[in-house]
Amino acid sequence: MIDFLGDWKRSGYCGALSADDIGKEVVLMGWAMRRRDHGGLVFVDLRDREGIAQIVFDPELSPEAHRKAEGVRNEFVLAVRGKVAPRPEGTVNPSLKTGEIEVLVSECRVLNRSKALPFTLDEHVEVAENIRLKHRYLDLRRPALQQNLLLRSKVTALTREFLTEQGFVEVETPYLTKSTPEGARDFLVPSRINQGSFYALPQSPQLFKQILMVSGFDRYYQIVRCFRDEDLRADRQPEFTQIDCEMSFVDRDDVITVMEGLIARIFQEAKGVRVELPIQRMTYSEAIRRFGVDNPDIRFGLELVELSELVGKSGFKVFADVVASGGIVKGLNAKGCAGLSRKEIDELTEFVKVYGAKGLAYVKMTAEGWQSPIAKFFTDEEMAGIDAAFGAEQGDLLLFVADRAKVVNDSLGRLRNRLAQLLKLIDGETFRFVWITDFPLLEWDDEEKRWVAVHHPFTAPMDEDLPSLESDPGRCRAKAYDLVLNGNEIGGGSIRIHRESIQSLMFRMLGIGEEEARAKFGFLLDALEYGTPPHGGIAFGMDRLIMIMSGSESIRDVIAFPKTQKGACLMSEAPSEVDARQLRDLGLKVTVRQ
Ligand code: AMO
Ligand code: AMP
Repeated sequence: MIDFLGDWKRSGYCGALSADDIGKEVVLMGWAMRRRDHGGLVFVDLRDREGIAQIVFDPELSPEAHRKAEGVRNEFVLAVRGKVAPRPEGTVNPSLKTGEIEVLVSECRVLNRSKALPFTLDEHVEVAENIRLKHRYLDLRRPALQQNLLLRSKVTALTREFLTEQGFVEVETPYLTKSTPEGARDFLVPSRINQGSFYALPQSPQLFKQILMVSGFDRYYQIVRCFRDEDLRADRQPEFTQIDCEMSFVDRDDVITVMEGLIARIFQEAKGVRVELPIQRMTYSEAIRRFGVDNPDIRFGLELVELSELVGKSGFKVFADVVASGGIVKGLNAKGCAGLSRKEIDELTEFVKVYGAKGLAYVKMTAEGWQSPIAKFFTDEEMAGIDAAFGAEQGDLLLFVADRAKVVNDSLGRLRNRLAQLLKLIDGETFRFVWITDFPLLEWDDEEKRWVAVHHPFTAPMDEDLPSLESDPGRCRAKAYDLVLNGNEIGGGSIRIHRESIQSLMFRMLGIGEEEARAKFGFLLDALEYGTPPHGGIAFGMDRLIMIMSGSESIRDVIAFPKTQKGACLMSEAPSEVDARQLRDLGLKVTVRQ
């Protein structure tokens, strides 16, 4: 039998009760967990958003409530009236916020029943993610996911509060729009009224926020969904949320200073973590040199060592040839890893091959000196030089990659992270931020045979590099910056080009012809001609930020209804086919079916 709620009003949350409430009469509502029958007494954990309270059904206190409790199963929805009492001695649960008390039930209403669950909500049991995602409404009942979404809500609120204090204006920009290039594919939405035409869902509000600066809003922000049709990974979703900001009459340091303040406020208020300001900065070239990547995890050392000069003239042909042809040789000292087996080293070799490396040379530092397949190629002097460069000691394992600079840095940079995991060098409790600055403006794309923007085409070159933009594009640095947290890029931005002539030149450099530029960004080029102030901004990846703050493994654990690697929502079963009529209305015909 199902009871009505009637005129009952909840007195508070289950999880909010404490010893201070002893003696009070309360009305609680929530979901039943773990019903236990103990010789007449029935115990149930009643759960709501804030936590759980143990409720006790005693047949002597209320035979009717006790009778109902006997029929209660997991996830039944209950309302109970009762008195808060101290738990009997020996039954206190110190690991629980409400562990000192229980509620002696005098009246119970069963508000709804539940079928047996397809999986247990017990935190300690691993459940396959596809089953969890299919029944996301149940998965989201798990306290860990609830905590993640509560944290997210808190961060959103703090962001609004801070940016409002700083004079930022929240403006909504359209979702049905024209393509903005952020380097990914667009999601398209067909127009019914203009058959054959498509809107693009925004990859970011980049052009709109710049135009808001042209219009004089001075400081803009938006917590906004962005859409990118790219290959998905643990830290990427096809739709994700940015904290998107833009400011006028500013230079790089102004943006960085305000945004550090935002980050510090968020960490202080939502995590109780103090972020030391100013946050450390590192140029792109230093990051690549020391860590191989532009999103270095600086919670541990294990820095890359440049060896090109030392080994370029050595008898090891692989190294000498690479250096002679303009490549580089770098290495890593895996401290204390000389004991790794052949098989384990082979695994590391396979790992670097994924990033293009052709091999992974190694040296084991033993009591007898170098033990290595390549030892025979080096003179004693060369070996001593290499040892010194690595700070090598007995018991260490030295690893080398020789190749084009990009391959060497990519593969050793990833290997560095991998080794840190294997060697347990990472303190999971710390948050280490670093701004990466002075990115290159352009990068040569070998496949497309043209220059592409490293950040995006609206990013300004450094003033002193502007004169050589045409003559030496590869050396031109950008006024761009990324914020990296524990090895994850959590935000990126730049000072923008605010003069039409430079923007047009930039498009030319990118191989975007005048006609194409007009067709795609004519509105921006027009706007730039009407008194555009110097401006710049940034966007933080909200999902990634919350993922790291909450210690989650995947971005999916901080999004209420995420997509799978294949871009599907297993709960609603999107994407799906549509009926013929909808297609007809849109003037579309499907020619490929899976
Ligand atoms: P960018 O492309 O660097 O910059 O994006 C900003 C931040 O958004 C996050 N992010 C993602 N998070 C989850 N899933 C994705 N697929 C995804 N892609 C990006 C990252 C990234 O740092 N308009 C510019 C910002 C600017 O110049 O102001 C932009 O979108 O954390
Ligand atoms: P080989 O001479 O090909 O037998 O290689 C000898 C050792 O050098 C092996 O451990 C290879 O993994 C390694 N090696 C081969 N090519 C490279 C390279 N480009 N960079 C680093 N190590 C390499």
